Amino acid sequence: MQARYLPRKLELDALVRTLVDEHRVMKDGLRIARDSARTGDYETASTALKRVDPVFRQHIADEEATVLGLLIRSLGVKGAEAEILVFRQHRPIYELMQKVAKLAELPPTELEKSQADLESLFEEHTLAEEEAVFPKALSLRSGRPRSA
Ligand SMILES: [Fe+2]
Ligand SMILES: [Fe+2]
Repeated sequence: MQARYLPRKLELDALVRTLVDEHRVMKDGLRIARDSARTGDYETASTALKRVDPVFRQHIADEEATVLGLLIRSLGVKGAEAEILVFRQHRPIYELMQKVAKLAELPPTELEKSQADLESLFEEHTLAEEEAVFPKALSLRSGRPRSA
């Protein structure tokens, strides 16, 4: 699902700031999609979800290649176990995004439930990244020479 997206060439601190900004952009998009779908405005919901899709795909390309790559190189697979678990949520999040993109094809109650599930999983995921994963990656990077 991310073959077209290569990691951006950014310093880690700039990348983390970008990723945190994108969390907000994506949460706003998911909320607009849910609010619109609830009032039957599937067109606005669809537009909002279509905007989130490429942001998410670029975002996880960076997280998995750059952030997780650094953690695994520094700590090993065993040492980065907790972070690997957080990043393993990308697939179920993306599957829910693809499901809710069906909008009117789903029974309204199922759509509403999937959108609520998506938002709560996304919230839990981004909180874990912002409070645990990103600070850990930044602390590993700051202890090393910049050029390494
Ligand atoms: Fe993520
Ligand atoms: Fe993220």
